[in-house]
Amino acid sequence: MRLILLGPPGAGKGTQAQRIVEKHGIPQLSTGDMLRAAVQAGTEVGKRAEALMKAGKLVPDEVVNAIVSERIDQPDCARGFILDGFPRTLVQADATEKMLNAKGLELSVVIELKVDDAELIRRVSGRYSCSNCGSVYHDTDKVPASAGVCDKCGSTHFKRRPDDNAETMATRLQVYYKETSPLIGYYYAKGKLQSIDGMADIEHVTESIEAILAKL
Ligand code: AP5
Ligand code: ZN
Repeated sequence: MRLILLGPPGAGKGTQAQRIVEKHGIPQLSTGDMLRAAVQAGTEVGKRAEALMKAGKLVPDEVVNAIVSERIDQPDCARGFILDGFPRTLVQADATEKMLNAKGLELSVVIELKVDDAELIRRVSGRYSCSNCGSVYHDTDKVPASAGVCDKCGSTHFKRRPDDNAETMATRLQVYYKETSPLIGYYYAKGKLQSIDGMADIEHVTESIEAILAKL
């Protein structure tokens, strides 16, 4: 199963990807997470990406394409993978097709999460994550069962992303509508697109996704 989760910042791609990982045992390939790890490690890619990410702009296509192509070759991707936050431009979408063709692989489905702008801003403003394991929470919608303690790993350290503020979020949304939303038509034309209501609560969105995956 090779799927793409498509949707604006804060639509719930990362949240749903984690659930698919747990249920189906295929890895989540988040270009955002990979780039944040590169920034943290201070690699050449990280140095190129840091300021762009902080401003809510896209990292150059060739940088991201190379990271994903390398990651797909890892053994844990043999049974499939979830692309989260990639592709994000038409150039990246074409590169994905070529990349998969060259490896003899086919895309199973592209799932689009549809969410209103006001809700996206609300979600991103309330987001924080575990500093240790990366589990994602929200100030009101998804709090740990025991206050201040990560459900998954027990850590008491949490962090917020530097790009999760109102100003950067405005740029991220503009970039999404200009650069990424054309992918909706691109994948529809290829018969790969399934759009779902991402406004529903986390559990219901998972159910909609599982209904699609069950038919593959
Ligand atoms: P990236 O990390 O990919 O961020 P994004 O696309 O902006 O998406 P988010 O991670 O913000 O949102 P999400 O949809 O995963 O939502 P989440 O599940 O966390 O990219 C960051 C930056 O990296 C980019 O700006 C760019 O600079 C660079 N980059 C990355 N990929 C690139 C690429 N391919 N090309 C070029 N540059 C690239 O949910 C959000 C919040 O809402 C959470 O708090 C969650 O708990 C809550 N929530 C989730 N679902 C629900 C629900 N159904 N109801 C209520 N609350 C919910
Ligand atoms: Zn944790």
